[in-house]
Amino acid sequence: MSQTLTLRRPDDWHLHLRDGAMLEAVLPESARHFGRAIIMPNLVPPVVTGADARAYRTRIMEAMPTGACFTPLMTLYLTEDTDPADVAAAHRAGLISAVKLYPAGATTNSHSGVRDFDKVRGVLEKMAEIGLTLCVHGEVTDPAVDIFDREAVFIDRVLDPVRRKTPGLRVVMEHVTTSEGIAYARAGGDDLAATITTHHLVINRNHILAGGIRPHYYCLPVAKRETHRLALREAATSGEARFFLGTDSAPHPDHLKEHPCGCAGCFTATNTMSILAHVFEEEGALDRLERFASLNGAAFYGLPPAETTVTLEKRAEPCAYPAKIETGAGTVTVFDPGFPLYWAFKD
Ligand code: NCD
Ligand code: ZN
Ligand code: ZN
Repeated sequence: MSQTLTLRRPDDWHLHLRDGAMLEAVLPESARHFGRAIIMPNLVPPVVTGADARAYRTRIMEAMPTGACFTPLMTLYLTEDTDPADVAAAHRAGLISAVKLYPAGATTNSHSGVRDFDKVRGVLEKMAEIGLTLCVHGEVTDPAVDIFDREAVFIDRVLDPVRRKTPGLRVVMEHVTTSEGIAYARAGGDDLAATITTHHLVINRNHILAGGIRPHYYCLPVAKRETHRLALREAATSGEARFFLGTDSAPHPDHLKEHPCGCAGCFTATNTMSILAHVFEEEGALDRLERFASLNGAAFYGLPPAETTVTLEKRAEPCAYPAKIETGAGTVTVFDPGFPLYWAFKD
């Protein structure tokens, strides 16, 4: 008898679907596995207004594979010119689930993000008042700060002051990569949570840099040293309500990853659930995968858990998955965890 694991259909609380030909090619990869996903707004140009979110959601629904049962949860990209009234109206209309904060220059397509946090005070106060979540890319952009320290410094310089000034603001620390991030999330109340990606549970910075540079492992925040990866694994597998899955699956065509100035982002939508089952099994926590991938995020966002289930089946032989996905915008490399995957995803 093969070993199986049945859990409520998982959700992805941090996903990049892009647009156009890329959207068309990558959407089925997420829609096959997940019931809902928080859709990141860092398009070019970004999804800034309620009207932008409505139009983007329509494009996603038009690209949806037939028979898919996948709900995109839209977000707005916070700029210094964002109008609190537009945000509140989009929230009231049920159009958005969160607003995303990118410090200007911190990551892919973040140039329209925030430089002066005083300029977004009005929006943050409105969000605290209406209970709308702020998703945060938590890295400082100060060139004087070492790239491996940018998350920890962001917590001290930006996140903690913003949270103190805006009581009640619901915050998700996106893709935490450090033990400092985990500790800060744990010190917060019910209004603070953190997403953890699949790839940060698997790779540390040696995987990117030792024995040759591997552009497909480069993402932001960049993977840190091993002690941090272990802290992330402990948190993800703890079952604690404040930690949940946000894959940050972020496709870029190979020619822009394998480039003198390569783009940041790992594409994990295709094999995330198989990798997670492997990781949770290694940690002796298979029984807690459902909390991390299917229950905790929905609870934080005030949504009911999925009514349907999915099954993972442990095979005797490694399961096959494509190494690359062909898209109209170029070939995209699927994240290679560096070990064979035995847990097959069955709908
Ligand atoms: C993301 C992308 O490509 O849009 N890249 C990444 O390395 N994570 C942006 C982001 O989530 O920071
Ligand atoms: Zn980010
Ligand atoms: Zn992201």
